[in-house]
Amino acid sequence: MHLIAYVNGKFQSLHNAMIHIEDRGFQFADGVYEVVACYQDNFIEMGAHLQRLEQSCQKINIELPASLCEIRNLIERAYRFNRIPNAMIYVQVTRGMAPRTHAYPETIQPSLIITVRPLPEVSQEKLAVGYRAITLEDIRWKHCDIKSIALLPSIMGKHEAQSRGADECFWVDEEKHVLEGSSTNIFAIKGSEDLAEIFKSNKKEQTHILLTHPLGSRILGGITRDLVIRSARKLGMTIEERPWSLEENGITECFVSSTTNAAMPVYSVDDNSVGTGKPGPVTTQIRQLVLNEFYA
Ligand SMILES: Cc1ncc(COP(=O)(O)O)c(C=O)c1O
Repeated sequence: MHLIAYVNGKFQSLHNAMIHIEDRGFQFADGVYEVVACYQDNFIEMGAHLQRLEQSCQKINIELPASLCEIRNLIERAYRFNRIPNAMIYVQVTRGMAPRTHAYPETIQPSLIITVRPLPEVSQEKLAVGYRAITLEDIRWKHCDIKSIALLPSIMGKHEAQSRGADECFWVDEEKHVLEGSSTNIFAIKGSEDLAEIFKSNKKEQTHILLTHPLGSRILGGITRDLVIRSARKLGMTIEERPWSLEENGITECFVSSTTNAAMPVYSVDDNSVGTGKPGPVTTQIRQLVLNEFYA
């Protein structure tokens, strides 16, 4: 597949696309990024991703090298050049190139890089079973709300998960509260009533609770997290954004969310089954609503 990348003003073959070795992204991971999904020409929540990119830049004092409108246009062009119907578009802004020293010059031109790849497809087999997760003590920094390109802890967490036969690691804090995954947000569902029964009986009040860690500096405010919360509201669920742990009574389902996963059920954490140990009905409903938004 001949891929085209955008690097600092030029579209070119990915094969030849280069940045200077003194780019601070390479030297210090001094930069931020976004991943936007596109299904058949439909960019998912592009506005929200651009807004988060702008916020990440502001938080580390990088001035965006182009307006949000121009970046949107470049993303759309990159997508069209690559002719990948279901694509994952990676947008990276680094502080730019300067002789390597920690302090950065005030007058520095940030780098903008856009690459496009096929969106990884979740296999039907995986979906039928769900993900396995492990918990790990959070070893990251105190600004997880910034979508930083410094992903070493996430790489280590994901590697540890995979080497133990799991799909995702759940970062937990000192009190074992579940924060987020290496590249996902995490949700639990509490509620004993069968959702199918609730729908059948047309009961308006539904008793399921959606639990997720509150926004703040310990998690990334996922764009899909917002979609999940909106979907759960549509189902009449109660949303509780508060610290929670896997030991909490009454958890019947668990799932993760991200741009590339939508909502994926989690059937086991640290070798303990969650609920029935199978993808649950509420997760399935929420996943469907999120996918409806994706394909809208
Ligand atoms: C640490 C972390 N949390 C959550 C997410 C999910 O965010 P989004 O739904 O915007 O893809 C990601 C995505 O990369 C992530 O890296």
